[in-house]
Amino acid sequence: MEVIIDVDSAVSSERAARNIAKQLKLKPSSVLGLATGSSPLKVYASLAEMCVRGEISFRSVTTFNLDEYIGVPPENEHSYRYFMNANFFDKIDIDKSRTHVPDGMAKDIEAACKSYEADIEASGGIDLQLLGIGSDGHIGFNEPSSSFASKTRVKGLASETITANARFFGNDVLAVPTHAITMGISTIMKARKICLLAYGSDKAAAVAGMIEGPISAKLPASILQMHPCVTIYLDNAAASKLDLRQYYDAAKSDLEARGEI
Ligand code: GLP
Repeated sequence: MEVIIDVDSAVSSERAARNIAKQLKLKPSSVLGLATGSSPLKVYASLAEMCVRGEISFRSVTTFNLDEYIGVPPENEHSYRYFMNANFFDKIDIDKSRTHVPDGMAKDIEAACKSYEADIEASGGIDLQLLGIGSDGHIGFNEPSSSFASKTRVKGLASETITANARFFGNDVLAVPTHAITMGISTIMKARKICLLAYGSDKAAAVAGMIEGPISAKLPASILQMHPCVTIYLDNAAASKLDLRQYYDAAKSDLEARGEI
């Protein structure tokens, strides 16, 4: 795990965006796994600017989003499909037919989950997966107690997640959908590279557990300790509960000196 701590989310997101741009230059037909939430917004803005400047292109890129609410249609502003179009896909040169978000309106949800997995496989697998983290340690909507062997399926949202996500629903907890389709933990772990973003003190406990705690289904993101290529991008607040900060900072200086980040 590379743990890269920067002063704020602007610097950190710029760094993460440069890493994704590097991936696209290495492999223009990359398959990207994408996330919603507030954490990736600056990364998407920065990638869109690079695209407008002609530095990168998404023309041959395929994307798979982590999750989608059940029962919220794509044209609804609360759906993750709407979020992705508005905050990213509409601003870049991507072919929308290559962008995938789970179908939360499918009549046969189980079949939709199976075909989502099959589509990821058929694309050749995810080259780089972008992740946020919930304050309860979830990734995607894999809430605490999710199986590490899980694939794309329906999950009920934990009450902590419903409360956290109410800010997108006019602070009305009753308006937040209670279920979502999410890639499973094993789906996420199959990605060749993973970049996780976490900002703010609300994430500090989950971040410390993810990086330094025991691997446990109680904190789903802790399984990332077992992934061979993970970069964690943090601001100072999200890093505030880490014990080994000095070590991470020294490793970051080494990576910077080698021009790797
Ligand atoms: C949501 C999403 C996750 C996201 C997390 C954190 O519930 N399902 O994919 O990473 O919450 O969101 P934010 O970045 O807004 O803190």
